[in-house]
Amino acid sequence: MTDLDWRPEQAKKSLNRIFPNLEEKFADKLVDIQGDWQIFKIRLNTQWERLFTYLHALYGWQYDFFYTLERVLYSLVEYWLQRPPELKLLDEQRQVNPTWFLSEKVVGIVLYVDLFSDNLTKLKDHIPYFKKLDLNYLHLMPIFSVPLDDNDGGYAVSDYRAINPDLGTMSELSEIARRLLEEGISLALDFVFNHTSDEHTWAKRARSGDPEYLNYYFTYPDRELPDQFQKYLRDIFPTVRRGSFTWNEEMRRWVWTTFNSFQWDLNYSNPEVMRAMMEEMLYLANQGVEIFRLDAVPFIWKRLGTDCENQPEAHTVIRAFNAMAKIAAPCILFKSEAIVHPDEVVKYIHPDECQLSYNPLLMALLWESLATKEVKFLEHSMRHRNRVPAGCTWVNYLRCHDDIGWSFDDVDARKVGIDPAGHRKFLNEFYTGNYPGSFARGVPFQFNPGNGDVRVSGTLSSLAGLEEALEKGDNELIEKAVRRINMLRAIQVSIGGIPLLYGGDEFGQMNDYTYMTDPTKINDSRWIHRAKRRWDARDDLADQDTLEWRFFREMVKLFRLRKEIPAFQNGGMEVTSIGNPHLFGYFRTFENQRILAINNFSDKPQKMDTGRLEVYGARGDVVNLLSDEVVSIEDGLMVEGYDAVWLDLSGGVAMI
Ligand code: GLC
Repeated sequence: MTDLDWRPEQAKKSLNRIFPNLEEKFADKLVDIQGDWQIFKIRLNTQWERLFTYLHALYGWQYDFFYTLERVLYSLVEYWLQRPPELKLLDEQRQVNPTWFLSEKVVGIVLYVDLFSDNLTKLKDHIPYFKKLDLNYLHLMPIFSVPLDDNDGGYAVSDYRAINPDLGTMSELSEIARRLLEEGISLALDFVFNHTSDEHTWAKRARSGDPEYLNYYFTYPDRELPDQFQKYLRDIFPTVRRGSFTWNEEMRRWVWTTFNSFQWDLNYSNPEVMRAMMEEMLYLANQGVEIFRLDAVPFIWKRLGTDCENQPEAHTVIRAFNAMAKIAAPCILFKSEAIVHPDEVVKYIHPDECQLSYNPLLMALLWESLATKEVKFLEHSMRHRNRVPAGCTWVNYLRCHDDIGWSFDDVDARKVGIDPAGHRKFLNEFYTGNYPGSFARGVPFQFNPGNGDVRVSGTLSSLAGLEEALEKGDNELIEKAVRRINMLRAIQVSIGGIPLLYGGDEFGQMNDYTYMTDPTKINDSRWIHRAKRRWDARDDLADQDTLEWRFFREMVKLFRLRKEIPAFQNGGMEVTSIGNPHLFGYFRTFENQRILAINNFSDKPQKMDTGRLEVYGARGDVVNLLSDEVVSIEDGLMVEGYDAVWLDLSGGVAMI
């Protein structure tokens, strides 16, 4: 018998053994909800074998594996029982249409509550703002209870069940989630599951020497193992600290801290950690969180002799969470935050793992093309790296709260004649404004003196040249910067995937240099693009003749157009050669609709030949859906500098 023959059999047996106890344990609570219970049982039966297989792969060798299964199952029922009726209804609705998020109608924003509206109470007053943008996906940056100063912008969580008191309360969050649901807006939150803050109760108990909680983290009495691991690990925040282990005097032990010294990595080889974190996740799901951004996914499993990133077990852990969610709160979606090599990014994307993933390669290569004014690298990479499994999609972003790293593939770079190391250096110089003729105003992030690596911080507008242009008061430069930004945004909404705005981008927010005078922020240049919202759209959201409104209007228009074009739903994007080194083109096709998007990365007008357009099915006059104009292609198609066009080729004959 092979392993696989054996597991389904064992899975069934274990469920049959546990189930009667389960029904008995929760009998009182099940009396009035027999209908619901039947639905739960169906889901449990459907998912159990999968969940069992994952847990078996991770913990099957442990003597008390059956106990682990039992505990997980009890928790699943418990949290399902606590789930409010309106969320159970949402579960049902989503199951009828499980790939709702692939629709062209879905567009989102991510923002910091304190920077956007001070607190959760005031956030509610801004729902009209979200409606004006017609958003249906709202991601709030970490809002949990965190240590006062050392909290990595919210990513060092002290209590997953408590909101940072400066921002509000958990009941306010649930209330907001309910309001958003009524408005058709899905709430996304981070699931910071790789580590907790050193002030989390679990960490405090570990510090007091409690062996149960010591085992929640990776701690070592001496340097023997840390030194062996360290040989293969990279430093994530090298300016702040070197090495991945922190000495804790209270415990007199070394603690594994991949990120900052106050962020303690959780030990998923302990099944209790898996179960405890599942409970935290389901607790939050029961408050109305529908989409979880899985923070720092590559780091959640450690193996000696490796870089401890992207281990196979990291995938198994996420798949186990996925199966748990499908049983107890099936509307949940996962978005993977894997900002690593593109080969690894894509491995997290699967309906059984993360249905959504950031698209760091597209983001980085859009900036690359803007700097070089050429699209060969972008075109080559997107041609073979953009596919994701059916039922999944990218989340396309231009900027987020983190830095930009140039995580493209070196072989791809060489293939198009680019020296990867030299190019990364060039891009860093370009985007920190140190390259002659650069329009960008970014700053370096985490220079590593060991290997010379560095990343870049800055807002969309400042990196795209608006800050410099405004400072010079040069209208022509301002116009160019605006066009760059709008072209990037046109790509973001049309290329396939959920466009996710970074709060502030909708009105062109620029760098904020105040972090340089704040001792708690000065060592982390990412604060340059985590600025307090400096634009106060009036309450009535009445349009005005300002640069901010110009950006905002364009964003509203882009979202509206996207929603009107079924071919912009997610999936099925085909990169095509335009025959001009500055023009990046792709087809979006759905049923009879076929759109050719062309984007000019140079500041000068560029031409696409009539012949090629005809091969692609264009005849005579063609409609540009973006400008709503008819264009003649008789003498080729001229695309203005930094412009995007969406040619409607639906009537044409596709010959490629
Ligand atoms: C993720 C977050 C980043 C944070 C890190 C550690 O990468 O996006 O902001 O510093 O995880 O939690």
